[in-house]
Amino acid sequence: MESQFTHVHDTPPPGAAADWTISQNWDAFTADEHAMWDRLFARQSEMLPGRAADAFLRGIDVLRLEKPGIPDYRELNARLMAATGWQVIAVPGLVPDEVFFDHLANRRFPAGNFIRTPQQLDYLQEPDVFHDVFGHVPMLADPVFADYMVAYGEGGLRSLKFDALKQLARLYWYTVEFGLIREAGGLRIYGAGIVSSFAESVFALDSDSPNRIGFDLARVMRTDYRIDDFQQNYFVINSLDQLLDTTVNTDFAPLYAKNAALPPIPIADFLPEDEVITRGTQEYALAKSG
Ligand code: PHE
Ligand code: FE
Repeated sequence: MESQFTHVHDTPPPGAAADWTISQNWDAFTADEHAMWDRLFARQSEMLPGRAADAFLRGIDVLRLEKPGIPDYRELNARLMAATGWQVIAVPGLVPDEVFFDHLANRRFPAGNFIRTPQQLDYLQEPDVFHDVFGHVPMLADPVFADYMVAYGEGGLRSLKFDALKQLARLYWYTVEFGLIREAGGLRIYGAGIVSSFAESVFALDSDSPNRIGFDLARVMRTDYRIDDFQQNYFVINSLDQLLDTTVNTDFAPLYAKNAALPPIPIADFLPEDEVITRGTQEYALAKSG
């Protein structure tokens, strides 16, 4: 999956507003497109109990996402707004960083307004409505995570004057997209890139291959990641409160400067101070690289 932070266009395409939004035009989705959503939904929801974070499963319920078909944002937003004040807005695809941050800071989550084809069932370059809505929106119904995403958007806008996009993108990647959380029953997934992926939902929790490391803000902001295959590292938070508190209560300006003076941490390396939860074999990544 592509990173949010790799957009290619600088001006909105024809038909999009200045803030890149378009109408969801829900009535235009075809029966085949709704059926694709249902197929993906059935496949994911079957495996998520016992794997997805409590907050994610609660979000699916609160938002009534089990209703068949691509969700109509008029209905979805009424529920989401009531829960946390967030809403989903339709965009053609990836949007520029500043536009993205501004939407988040104002409790608007931009979702790609297309759905993958059967040939793209397991891999696509740009996030589609299934990734964006099924993957991201349930967590936005959780009040603590909802506040984290707002703070992230505000922090993103602030970061533009620090040349810190890469560090901030890593934080997004290892939390919002590929985060794990420790719960009473064991590790659970909450990252949208995992919960919306059939294979990675299993790999992230069950495989001996990847490293699983306790979340450390500065460490995460220095850690490289891969966008072309399963992650080699997952970072584990103890609670959503921990994630919100550590990020909101840290002034990133000095941290950006400190991190910029240090080398990035190669994907699968450990640091002596890491809280190692799983020392991965990296068997999967090694086999792939031949
Ligand atoms: N506290 C961060 C700053 O000083 C903002 C931020 C909050 C960034 C939460 C990401 C997540 O810029
Ligand atoms: Fe995403």
